[in-house]
Amino acid sequence: MAIIIDGKKVSQKIKDEVKEKVAALKAKGIETTLAVIQVGNDPASTVYVGNKKKACEYTGIRSLAYEIPEETTEEELLKLVHSLNDRDDVDGILVQLPLPKHINEDRVIQAISPAKDVDGFHPQSVGALSIGEPGFVSCTPAGIIELLKRYNIQIDGKECVIIGRSNIVGKPVSMLLLRENGTVTVCHSHTADLKEVAKRADILVVAIGKAKFVTADYIKEGAAVIDVGMDRDENGKLCGDVDFESAVEKAGAITPVPGGVGPMTIAMLMNNCVYSAGLKLED
Ligand code: GUN
Repeated sequence: MAIIIDGKKVSQKIKDEVKEKVAALKAKGIETTLAVIQVGNDPASTVYVGNKKKACEYTGIRSLAYEIPEETTEEELLKLVHSLNDRDDVDGILVQLPLPKHINEDRVIQAISPAKDVDGFHPQSVGALSIGEPGFVSCTPAGIIELLKRYNIQIDGKECVIIGRSNIVGKPVSMLLLRENGTVTVCHSHTADLKEVAKRADILVVAIGKAKFVTADYIKEGAAVIDVGMDRDENGKLCGDVDFESAVEKAGAITPVPGGVGPMTIAMLMNNCVYSAGLKLED
């Protein structure tokens, strides 16, 4: 029976650590500020943005909320982003995705100053990560590494297999595991013998968005299994990309859904914000 990796507990600890860092900066006259922009009122985005605001309140980060109408033009949104880039009192800028169809997401992401890119989505942040330069790391991949480290799961020298090659999880987590000296294989929908490749993994990360796709027969005895999925099963119940019931018997450690990787994303966002504010000390 695997150790259950408790993302809720770890994320709470990280938020408490961020809270202390925010207070220490405040004592030196530096306030940490995150600007969150939501265009339109997609219900899922409203929930995510609400959770980010709550985490800001908890950690003492000042949040500036820009809830702007669906009809906002790309030009108007870019103007807002540029104005936030220019403000010394703003440390992080987050534009909640997805954006309405008439707005080009890539153009908006690229308009955010890399110095304030707390989501880590800007091509400069992604490039910095791939060549080992300092820069913001996107929050879910950073959260995965943090979970492994805090559970003392060794990455150095281990076989790491990632199923899924998305820009927001698969690719960046592969870079991070490589940075930690893992031996990394990235699998995707064209991978031959996926089961055999997955079974080589000491650390298996699954981020494909397919409910319960990975069963026990993809898992090496004792492997650490990180499930990034947020899916619905046949009864509409929240589940991951991994079939937890069978996997838990074979894995050495496993993240549940919910309560595994999910809560880590916002905690790492808060961490990126306070890191950004802390850079002002070095100016
Ligand atoms: N939409 C869903 N997840 C995210 C996220 O992590 N960042 C942003 N900006 N939008 C999202």
